[in-house]
Amino acid sequence: MSAVAQRVRHFVSIADLSPDELGTLLDLTARLKVDRGPRTDLRGRTVALVFEKPSLRTRLSFDVGTAQLGGHCVYLSPAEVGLGRRESVSDVARVVSRMADAVVLRVNAHETIEEFARYSDVPIINGLSELSHPCQGLADIFTIRERKARGADLRGVTIAYVGDGNNVAHSLMLCAGKTGATLRVATPSGYEPLPRYRQLADAAAQASGGRIEIGNDPQRAVSGADVVYTDVWTSMGQEQEYERRRRAFLGYQVNAQLLSKAKPDAIVLHDLPAHRGEEITDEVMDGPQSAVFDQAENRLHTEKALLCWLMGGKG
Ligand code: CP
Ligand code: NVA
Repeated sequence: MSAVAQRVRHFVSIADLSPDELGTLLDLTARLKVDRGPRTDLRGRTVALVFEKPSLRTRLSFDVGTAQLGGHCVYLSPAEVGLGRRESVSDVARVVSRMADAVVLRVNAHETIEEFARYSDVPIINGLSELSHPCQGLADIFTIRERKARGADLRGVTIAYVGDGNNVAHSLMLCAGKTGATLRVATPSGYEPLPRYRQLADAAAQASGGRIEIGNDPQRAVSGADVVYTDVWTSMGQEQEYERRRRAFLGYQVNAQLLSKAKPDAIVLHDLPAHRGEEITDEVMDGPQSAVFDQAENRLHTEKALLCWLMGGKG
C-alpha cells in the first residue's frame, strides 16, 4: 500500500459517511437532477468498472453519469479480469489505479473490495457486494426524501422493508439510521439482517432520533408505513438456495393485500431487478403507488453526485 492510498477517500459502506456528508451528497444529487446539462467535472478522467456479477442499473448509471460529467468509463468484465484467479486482487488494484481515476467494484466477496481499497491510489466505490449495496442505499434514501420528507429531515417518515435481510436491507438500514427515519424490517426467521449492520444502524438512529425495528411480521411492519420496500428473495450468488428460500419467504410477498395496510399514499420501492410474482406482484409493481422506476432513475443522479464528491468536483 502506498502512502497516497491512505489519503484517498473510498465509498465502501454508508457507514463511511457522517450524517452531514450523507446530507451533502443528497443535496448535491437534488441539484444535479435539476441541472441536467452537460458538465465538465470529470473532464479528462476515467472511471473503471470492475464487475464480477451482472448489472443493468449500476453499470448504466455510472457509464451515463460519467459521460454527462465529461469523463469516460471503461467496463472490465469478470472473464477479462479474473479478479483473484488470473491475477491477485492487490496486483489488479495497483494496475487499475495507475490508469483510472476511480474504480467501481461489484464483487462476490466483500473482502475483495476491502483488499482492493487498501492497494488503490484512487477512490474505490462499492457497486454491490454480498454484504452491502451503498450506491443503491443513496438512491433509495434520496427517493424517499424526494417523495416523503420535508427537506433533509426524515424524522416522522416510516419505511417498511419486507423480505430478505440482505445487502440492500443493510445499506437501507444505515441510510435510515443516519437520516432519522423509522425503519421496520420484517424477514422470515433465520433471514434477519446481520448483527453488525443492526448495531451500526441502531447507533446511527440513536444519534439522529430515528428507529430501527427488526421483526418477522410483515403486516405489522407495513401497518401505517409511508414507504414499502422489498428486494429479491434469492440474491446473485445464492441461486442454489432458490427452492428453500421460495418456501421460507411465502407470506412475505408485497401484494395488494399487504400494501393496503400501509398509508393510502404510501409509495412502493424495489431496487430491481424484480422477480415478479415472487417478492412483488405485477399489480403492485405496475400500480399507482409504485415509485420503482423513479427510484431506478435516481441511481443516475446519486452516482453523479458521488463521483463529483469523491473525485473532487464542486457539483
Ligand atoms: N439495483 C441494481 O443495482 O441493479 P443492477 O444489479 O442491475 O445494477
Ligand atoms: N440483493 C440483490 C440486489 C441486486 C441489485 C442481489 O444481491 O442480487
